[in-house]
Amino acid sequence: MPASEATVQVTVWRGSANGAFQRFEVPRHSSQTVLDVVTHIQRVLDPTLAYRFSCRVGMCGSCAMTVNGVARWTCRTHVDRAAREGRLEIAPLRNLPVIRDLVTDMRDFFDKWARAKGQFRGASTRHEDFARIRPDTAARMQAEAGIECIGCGVCYASCDVVARNPDYLGPAALNRAWTLVNDARDVARGDRLRAVAGDAGCHACHTQMGCTERCPKNLAPTASIAGLKRETARAALRGEL
Ligand code: SF4
Ligand code: FES
Repeated sequence: MPASEATVQVTVWRGSANGAFQRFEVPRHSSQTVLDVVTHIQRVLDPTLAYRFSCRVGMCGSCAMTVNGVARWTCRTHVDRAAREGRLEIAPLRNLPVIRDLVTDMRDFFDKWARAKGQFRGASTRHEDFARIRPDTAARMQAEAGIECIGCGVCYASCDVVARNPDYLGPAALNRAWTLVNDARDVARGDRLRAVAGDAGCHACHTQMGCTERCPKNLAPTASIAGLKRETARAALRGEL
């Protein structure tokens, strides 16, 4: 690696919403991720830097940040791919309050899952046999298409509707609602459709596709939201909302 490429110039957001970027120079190494860079800064250059991570392998969803203006999971984003002219700008996720440095307050994000009735509600008890759901039914395939969400918030931070309308439930909560609408074992379908049919729900989506473009799990929240739009419209025509 040439000497000029032996380091990466990094600017990192410090402080709360009124903070500022701070510059660091971090040694490069092969297969280095953006999370490796942030960890180097915290462990070697400035132990006061606040950030979140857990699994480091793309499972927990806790490491998402804004990297050169784009929301990403940092543990699976290589510096080679994200750096521009050898530089990284690392900031907290957009559309969420900043607690400190790279740590955002995720309460609104997860409260909206609850508002969208994102909790499974079954009717059977542990004394009954397991429900047998055929994996090749249309409903189960629709549920499966959105089920691998890791709650990283990348879609939420990438959504311009959330930016303009902070009350909007957002792509992740609506994607979760769609998986449950298609879950044959769940008994809260009507409540859930009512919860997502309001002004802050699925019909507020402008189909800009930022969520689907950015989701690191390659999910398509836009398609889930389109499904909710169809199902809420049908329920309204039937007088069920
Ligand atoms: Fe993250 Fe994708 Fe889930 Fe959004 S839908 S929270 S981007 S995994
Ligand atoms: Fe768990 Fe990145 S640290 S997804």
